[in-house]
Amino acid sequence: MMDLISQDKTHDESRQGEALILEPVEGKNSGRKLYIESYGCAMNFSDSEIVASILSEQGFETTGDYTNADVIFINTCSIRENAETRVRNRLKEFKVAKGKNPGMVVGVLGCMAERLKSKFLEEEKLVDVVVGPDAYRDLPNLIDQVDSGQKAVNVLLSREETYADISPVRLNTNGINAFVSIMRGCDNMCSFCVVPFTRGRERSRDPYSIVQECQDLFDRGYREVTLLGQNVDSYKWTQSASQRHPTPGTEGFENEADKKVSPAGGDLEEAVNFASLLEMVALIHPDLRVRFSTSHPKDITDDVLYTMAKYENICKYIHLPVQSGNSRILELMNRTYDREWYINRIDAIRRILPGCAISTDVITGFCTETEEEHKETVSMMEYVQYDFAYMFMYSERPGTLAAKRYEDDIPEEVKAARLKEIVALQQKMSHGRLLQQLGKVQKVLIEGFSKKSKDDYCGRTDQNAMMVFPVNEKYKPGQYAYVMAESCTTATLIGSIVD
Ligand code: SAH
Ligand code: SF4
Ligand code: F3S
Repeated sequence: MMDLISQDKTHDESRQGEALILEPVEGKNSGRKLYIESYGCAMNFSDSEIVASILSEQGFETTGDYTNADVIFINTCSIRENAETRVRNRLKEFKVAKGKNPGMVVGVLGCMAERLKSKFLEEEKLVDVVVGPDAYRDLPNLIDQVDSGQKAVNVLLSREETYADISPVRLNTNGINAFVSIMRGCDNMCSFCVVPFTRGRERSRDPYSIVQECQDLFDRGYREVTLLGQNVDSYKWTQSASQRHPTPGTEGFENEADKKVSPAGGDLEEAVNFASLLEMVALIHPDLRVRFSTSHPKDITDDVLYTMAKYENICKYIHLPVQSGNSRILELMNRTYDREWYINRIDAIRRILPGCAISTDVITGFCTETEEEHKETVSMMEYVQYDFAYMFMYSERPGTLAAKRYEDDIPEEVKAARLKEIVALQQKMSHGRLLQQLGKVQKVLIEGFSKKSKDDYCGRTDQNAMMVFPVNEKYKPGQYAYVMAESCTTATLIGSIVD
């Protein structure tokens, strides 16, 4: 059953895992082969790069073939029931491989590990190790424990862990786009959502380490960073002057950080919010594009919008999940904004950032949703004219507020019919948005060859639309090109470079 449509990878929880390839390093695990597969959101993929970094320090090499691995890790997602079903099915395939190689270690990481904890070991006998998202530093010990014949679990959540000091091993990369995690966890208790339980309390990463990581990526040829967090607009970091780090290699860092006197004792304190962090990253270099995800409608400020307007290299694209267009349902969802508030934020984006692309997430068939309330979601989508949307049927998650308080009373066929209706509407609108681009010249970051032909390049516009255009020898992947959009399919612009 289709439960989402998506055009970029940032929000697509249905992605299949990809094997990570590591450089071998001398160590006590030298020669041991590791296979990692990731599911879920971009943050999980980013975490797998942290895991890869921790294990490469231990001497692990990776393999893209799980059947000959010594250790298999599956980094999991719990967001909807079908995300978990996918992982369970994959574990069945790993069971066959372990049957042939009984010494193989199978580990479950990520959100399902955190949700099910040691229950996983009872439910899935082949699993040897269960590790939550804040416990990856403990992986070497946990693997040792399994090597000595025990099962191992660490699902402790942390209020501080941001893995700020670990440089992710960039794997399966095109060398051009990278995800950079800026915060972890979530303090919003949306009633349908499992994330606060699987990822713990919200904490922001030291901005100096973020700027350093982005600078390093730029120096290595990367040209686009996507700053990741469940709610990037609530990014907040403060540090007193006495603890301040040396100035990182970016001009403007000192100028742009919002310095204020702390109410406690007059000590100079430096506070960085999301708008100032965006500015710090944008200042690294005009050729480094900056994207971010996800914005929360209750927190996105005009300050962020003005910062986006000020810097050409901050992409004019905002993912602003609405979930529902009806205020009563939004209240039951505990989203803490209503229809009017959301419309006010959309109007602010249109006013401050004309031409900005907007995408969203929608849930159909949340508890007690009536047909009229669903129609308000439809009318919201028509009002905003979203460029893309990720659309899902409500899936009750054990332990969430909604599961405790409300009955999951909308029949599956009604959820599915409502989903079908909005998917059809969105496809029409997405296509309409692309048609509006025809005849216009767009700045595209060339990401590589198109999937279909080595004669074509592909890359995204500032507004995150995919553009395919004939290779021109003067341009290489990682460079920007001005491309005239000449035609389009339902989801892709087709054009040619204008010199
Ligand atoms: N932090 C982001 C969302 C992360 S989860 C935000 O607040 O916008 C990504 C999307 O999955 C959500 O926006 C929501 O649309 C969907 N989702 C989350 N829980 C769900 C559930 N129980 N059933 C169906 N969809 C869900
Ligand atoms: Fe889940 Fe809401 Fe947090 Fe998003 S903001 S991760 S939907 S609790
Ligand atoms: Fe899934 Fe966890 Fe991300 S539940 S969507 S992998 S934060």
